[in-house]
Amino acid sequence: MGMKILVVGSGGREHALCWRVRADRPAADLYCAPGSSAIAGIATTVPLAADDVPGLVEWSIANRPDLVIVGPEDPCALGLVDRLAEAGVHAFGPSAAATRLESSKAWTTELLDRAGVPIPDSAIFESPGDAHDYVDDSGNPLVVKADGLALGKGVLVCDTPDEAHAAIDAVMIERKFGDAGSSVVIQERCYGPELSVFAICAGISFRIIGSARDYKRAFDGDRGLNTGGVGAYSPVADADDELLQEVADRIIGPTLQAASDAGSPFTGMLYAGLMLTSDGPVVIEFNIRFGDPEAQVILPTMRGDLVAAMLAAIDGDVSKVDLAPDGTAAVSVVLASGGYPTSYETGHRIYGLDALPLGALAFHAGTETRDDGLYTAGGRVLAIVGTGPDVPAARANAYAAADHVTFQDSQWRTDIAATEQAPVGQSRMAVTS
Ligand code: AMP
Ligand code: GLY
Repeated sequence: MGMKILVVGSGGREHALCWRVRADRPAADLYCAPGSSAIAGIATTVPLAADDVPGLVEWSIANRPDLVIVGPEDPCALGLVDRLAEAGVHAFGPSAAATRLESSKAWTTELLDRAGVPIPDSAIFESPGDAHDYVDDSGNPLVVKADGLALGKGVLVCDTPDEAHAAIDAVMIERKFGDAGSSVVIQERCYGPELSVFAICAGISFRIIGSARDYKRAFDGDRGLNTGGVGAYSPVADADDELLQEVADRIIGPTLQAASDAGSPFTGMLYAGLMLTSDGPVVIEFNIRFGDPEAQVILPTMRGDLVAAMLAAIDGDVSKVDLAPDGTAAVSVVLASGGYPTSYETGHRIYGLDALPLGALAFHAGTETRDDGLYTAGGRVLAIVGTGPDVPAARANAYAAADHVTFQDSQWRTDIAATEQAPVGQSRMAVTS
């Protein structure tokens, strides 16, 4: 009898989590709530929404899973992990209090500032008038951020003071992001490549398990609107051992210590969104979970036992955890419905997934199985992942596979990982692909 494991969520990230658990633990009794028709191929789906905290707690009390893995942030913010812990159920993810590292940019900015963690110059405002005065007094390009959760869309990068004023009004007065905009963080605009670093954490104990770069804008050349993420790759050449040591010493360690000192120790997967400025790495944001579509490139290129690592984190000590990059690379290309992230049609038949070439995987974000085949059912439809010995090889596999998969009006970027030309640890020689 294998372990009983419940994954909470329904997107591409949760498909990848189920895939990895299934690969590591073939005998596991795997459930996913609510899951999707693709996830139903590898797990038993449970018809409970990811944010149905009472329903998930009741199910867990009745079914006694050995581990619950929470994919998205919302259930954590609603206290799912706290309620499961009270019921004696082992759940991987942060408490509601520790979820503030993602759900409150104001709380996190104050915490990081006190702890001396490098962040852009920042100011927090609860009144639009004070925020407008700050913009008038500052001569620099600014970034206006809604305090709360806004599906990754509450950050407005401004070129001019006029844009910053308009951003304050959009967030605080028009309330474009609802209550997330009751306060704002205004930051100095920084410049440099971005890097996501993932660490499995248990209070102040942590291990960095990998790095990725994600693509947030809808179109090639970082044009178009911000999205939930339309591509990613791992590993990132910038993230060499020296940089990761600096991130551990100056960012992750002090952040965990400060969260713990504030009475909100963090257990779960910490996703540090960094910008590599000429003064070194600064924190742009934290997420408290795997990224989507970053999980789709981290999980296929990670060695070690994910389930054992999560149980160790819940036990409070990850010092013996064996998760680490396995030395290979992965690139994910998100096939989206035409028009995403604004308006798009769904219900188009998807062709070509049954004949994916070797070295490719497909994780489903918004698909639906009908009697006669698979159909689109969301903005992000599929993350097609190519794997290989290095990023250029993985990239070639990802695009070769993406070319096989067709549906009406599909939209995807052609430049994911295009600038990452050299294998990690080697010289940056030009490689064409
Ligand atoms: P976030 O949701 O906080 O990750 O922000 C979304 C995007 O806005 C980031 O990926 C960055 O590209 C950009 N951004 C956020 N903060 C800053 C900043 N202080 N300076 C420059 N760009 C930023
Ligand atoms: N891809 C960005 C995120 O998961 O937050």
